[in-house]
Amino acid sequence: MEIGVIGVGYVGLVTATCFAYLGFKVRCVDVDPDKIHNLQNGRIPIHEPGLEEILHKANKAGQVLFATDINELKNCKVIFLAVGTPPNPDGSSNLTFLTQAFDDLTNLLTQDTVIVVKSTVPVGTAKMLRERASGRDASNLLHIVSNPEFLREGNAVHDFLNPDRVVVGYESDLAKSIMKEVYAPFTSKDIPIVWTCNASAELIKYSANAYLAMRVAFINEVSDLCEQANADISEVTRGVGLDHRIGRHYLHPGPGFGGSCFPKDTLSLVHFANQRGVDAKIIKSIMPSNESRIKSLSEEMCRLFKEHGCKVIAFLGVTFKANTDDMRDSPTIPMIKALIDNGFEVMAYDPSKTEQFSQYFNIGLQNSAEEALHRADAAVIATEWSEFKLMPAELFASKLKRKILFDLRGVFSAEAFRAVGVKYRGIGRKIDA
Ligand code: UGA
Repeated sequence: MEIGVIGVGYVGLVTATCFAYLGFKVRCVDVDPDKIHNLQNGRIPIHEPGLEEILHKANKAGQVLFATDINELKNCKVIFLAVGTPPNPDGSSNLTFLTQAFDDLTNLLTQDTVIVVKSTVPVGTAKMLRERASGRDASNLLHIVSNPEFLREGNAVHDFLNPDRVVVGYESDLAKSIMKEVYAPFTSKDIPIVWTCNASAELIKYSANAYLAMRVAFINEVSDLCEQANADISEVTRGVGLDHRIGRHYLHPGPGFGGSCFPKDTLSLVHFANQRGVDAKIIKSIMPSNESRIKSLSEEMCRLFKEHGCKVIAFLGVTFKANTDDMRDSPTIPMIKALIDNGFEVMAYDPSKTEQFSQYFNIGLQNSAEEALHRADAAVIATEWSEFKLMPAELFASKLKRKILFDLRGVFSAEAFRAVGVKYRGIGRKIDA
């Protein structure tokens, strides 16, 4: 069976490449000719560990085709829609790309075709698409499936190939049987397929992201409580997380969550609740909690550095988390902005060398962590890249003129820094800086 994919952004490209890796022939279409040209030549536009290698193999074996012409998908029985659904200013999702791709596709149908919505879309989208197609000749050939993704950036290939579950919302027996074929490599590995109606599948996606975002916001608040109680957040999360009803994941405190998914999807769920008159108090509190954390940490950082007479700050890690070059909605953006607005000179460095930095700031990135530390008075660790974890406390002690480290990810041991005379401000632990 040939699989079609429309949109080779992050989700589409990972989906297409992994299906090709699993042995399917995959045809990908995108409106961006430059992107397609690069992919035809094995160049991928995102930083995703492992993706380039398997794409290279798939390209070499002729398993994957990239094109700009949607007619290439004419004979595919199953076509994934993986176009962007960016947020509108009111928190709703902009479905222009999705409806455009859907309309183009439905105009092509000459046989029963399963159209799989892989993009993250508001609850009710499958129903809306069904209604949109209802007047058209080919409407009876159309089978809509909602198949949300649960890929973490930086782990997407692993997550795609080893999911905890696959969620498939469907509306016809034919759709179910085609999706069974598509996911046969997963059922043979005993990975559960959760068969649902379309609306449930759509809501599962938002609930999962909003719940995880809530856990992060929650543990960040507990981390603040630890500081006041002279408790240690790593001990608290271990003690709490070992309860199997709670679990240990997504309980790591940090500067606040970011990325293109948690904030957008949480806001979209709030928008849906408001639209339907549901007073979802907990869900509505997630974003304000996260925003106030980012703000209060930014303010504290500026205050601390001013008190110690710092002028130049090394800012290590600018992406929203490690192992990605993505800065979308990263808490580092308002933080760096606050430092600059308060008159500090920021020497920022990120191991991904992300090109997105220049979209937000008109200062350049440094070439290495050492270069960022070179003239700095104090340093901030904002993402948990392994490269930073390997940096010895002595390096900071020898480079930083005012010897202050603000570790927003709890990457280091406070003791190791205290031992070499660096004032260490961690999170969720006794404060000594
Ligand atoms: C998230 C979900 O985890 C994926 O399942 C989902 O498919 C994806 O969104 C999406 O909807 O496309 P992602 O945005 O890549 O994936 O990032 P996560 O690794 O989940 O982290 C999100 C944010 O929470 C980051 O800012 C991260 O630093 C923060 N975080 C996460 C913490 O601060 N503490 C934690 O313990 C975990």
